Amino acid sequence: MVIFKGAAEVHSFLKKQTENNIKIGFIPTMGALHSGHISLLKNAKSDGMLTVCSIFLNPTQFNDKKDFEKYPISTDADIELLLNADCDVLFLPSVDEIYPEGTDKIKSFDFGYLDTILEGANRPGHFKGVGQVVGRLLEIVQPHNLYLGQKDYQQCMVINKLKEILHLDHLQLVICPTLREADGLAMSSRNRRLSDPQRTLAGLLYQCLISIQTKKNTGDFSIVKKECTDLLTAKGFSTEYIAIANADNLKLLDSYDDSVPMVALIAAKIGEIRLIDNILL
Ligand code: PAJ
Repeated sequence: MVIFKGAAEVHSFLKKQTENNIKIGFIPTMGALHSGHISLLKNAKSDGMLTVCSIFLNPTQFNDKKDFEKYPISTDADIELLLNADCDVLFLPSVDEIYPEGTDKIKSFDFGYLDTILEGANRPGHFKGVGQVVGRLLEIVQPHNLYLGQKDYQQCMVINKLKEILHLDHLQLVICPTLREADGLAMSSRNRRLSDPQRTLAGLLYQCLISIQTKKNTGDFSIVKKECTDLLTAKGFSTEYIAIANADNLKLLDSYDDSVPMVALIAAKIGEIRLIDNILL
């Protein structure tokens, strides 16, 4: 695995690979890697890509300063995981490499409706930051395929919109399934911050999604939603949203609608730790 810290250096290395007809598969991350991240890398490998992973804890996408300060960092262990998974290139930039003109000056994008609901509504400025960093990383890496996790469903839609805005017609987004722990908890870097009792309860989020899925043919969504909210509240969570939406455009639905593809999405905090998850219905 070749490790680059400089944007110009990784850019010119990868440009040469492309000139030699090698296809680049890019997996952007914020580090604290787990099997979910590695599954994206494996997907890229099985597509025959030269795999490029980035680890960059992007300050501009954290609307909550505490969340940024407490975000787990484990670069040595991350490098070990990437080596074991046969990653070809690791890009490990500093803030200055990504934002040479400062974090205020970098161009941002308008994601319209997508930025007004769910994660957009609950984390003001978050998708602006995601757009800035992904836009910049794509400019540096210029991949053929971009590997993203379904775990961050709305982020995938935002990045798809970014691809449209930037006219990156050649770029293929590959959305990979969510990897879960045995109790269904979606793997996440933030899970490391859960205490043992919190970790025991965290699987409830997935159980709520499964119950929303199971009741789609017989149930009333508003009743299922109330049952889930009551259960989570009783167990000490504070629920930010439990929603169903059209899976193609994230238009929110008040009730189950069989005539459109549906996705259920959930966000809840346990203690200080905010967890999100989703499931296609
Ligand atoms: P991060 O949370 O590190 O996630 C990096 C990628 O891994 C994202 O595409 C995410 O959806 C995917 N991922 C996370 N958990 C997963 C799981 N359990 N199963 C499958 N894939 C999973 O998302 C970000 O970083 C940042 O916002 C980023 C896109 C890198 C921009 O800073």
